[in-house]
Amino acid sequence: MANLEELRGKIAAIREEIRKETANLQDSKAVYELKKSFLDKSGRIGQLMRYMKDVDPSQRAEFGKNVNALKDWALEHFNSMDEEMRRREVQAQYEREKIDITMPSHRRTAGNLHPVTQVRNQLIDIFSGMGFEIFEGTEVENDYYNFTALNTPKDHPARDMQDTFYLSPDFVLRTQTSAAQIHVMENEKPPIKILSPGKVFRSDDDATHSPMFSQMEGLVVDKGITLGDLQGMLDVFVKKVFGDETRTRLRPSFFPFTEPSVEVDVSCFECGGKGCNFCKHTGWIEILGAGIVNRKVLENCGVDPDVYSGLAFGIGIERVAMLKYGINNIKQLFESDLRVLEQINDK
Ligand code: DAH
Repeated sequence: MANLEELRGKIAAIREEIRKETANLQDSKAVYELKKSFLDKSGRIGQLMRYMKDVDPSQRAEFGKNVNALKDWALEHFNSMDEEMRRREVQAQYEREKIDITMPSHRRTAGNLHPVTQVRNQLIDIFSGMGFEIFEGTEVENDYYNFTALNTPKDHPARDMQDTFYLSPDFVLRTQTSAAQIHVMENEKPPIKILSPGKVFRSDDDATHSPMFSQMEGLVVDKGITLGDLQGMLDVFVKKVFGDETRTRLRPSFFPFTEPSVEVDVSCFECGGKGCNFCKHTGWIEILGAGIVNRKVLENCGVDPDVYSGLAFGIGIERVAMLKYGINNIKQLFESDLRVLEQINDK
């Protein structure tokens, strides 16, 4: 017959053991394992019930109460240990994964469009707002489209105005986007209103000239087109590009494909027209060539010059970019020097 006092001693010993062992536990998994070893059916506490049959029947209820009390205490003890371990684990995880939000981040540099592309896009925006459509020609042209059809036959002295890269006796790298005028007029009936941007090539190389540069050709053909229409459109364009105060003036000039031909000047946007180094003290800056399409050119394309007239203009995109952004050597536009390119971001 087992003595109740003795069994109480066992119960107290188990309680003590649980206290000791749980004191050294490091994580919730270990708590779980230990809990199992005491509280499972075959665990140490469960095993105490084996003594029941040896207890004096009058003391069995008391013994059962004592074992249950131990069970309740152990359960609560393990649960609170478990809670404590989990709290510590989450805390440790926070520490491990802590992010210092005050740490300076890596700066990401965003690229921007090349100034020539920026100006090209600005011009396209402005002129499409006036109803122009884009026509892109080809960089290799035959002699006819680049010169002859533009009223510049083989022996014409005006061919000397442009030093041409010949690919063969008949093919050239186009020297001007004006070639696009012919393609459009051959294929479309008036009214015509096109803008033709693209690269052109000339054997020319100094501070303001590059063997490859970009132009933007404009052509309008309809009934009753005059120089007034030309100046009106160009006024809008220069005000948008160089500022509202800017004025234009037309100066007589010569191009084989226009009659009359004009050079278009804008009032100096540096000094407002008073005269300064930038405009060489003239108050004006030359910006593009233009004119009324020569009757011969219309005829070459099968457009009746007695019914229709046209205006045309050719804008040098690098020239506009250089003027607008104060670049004095065209090479800076082709050297890809980020110190220059990063400064220009008009979109
Ligand atoms: N094609 C001329 C050049 O490259 C520019 C030009 C002048 C274009 C007058 C035109 C124009 O359409 O009418 O120098």
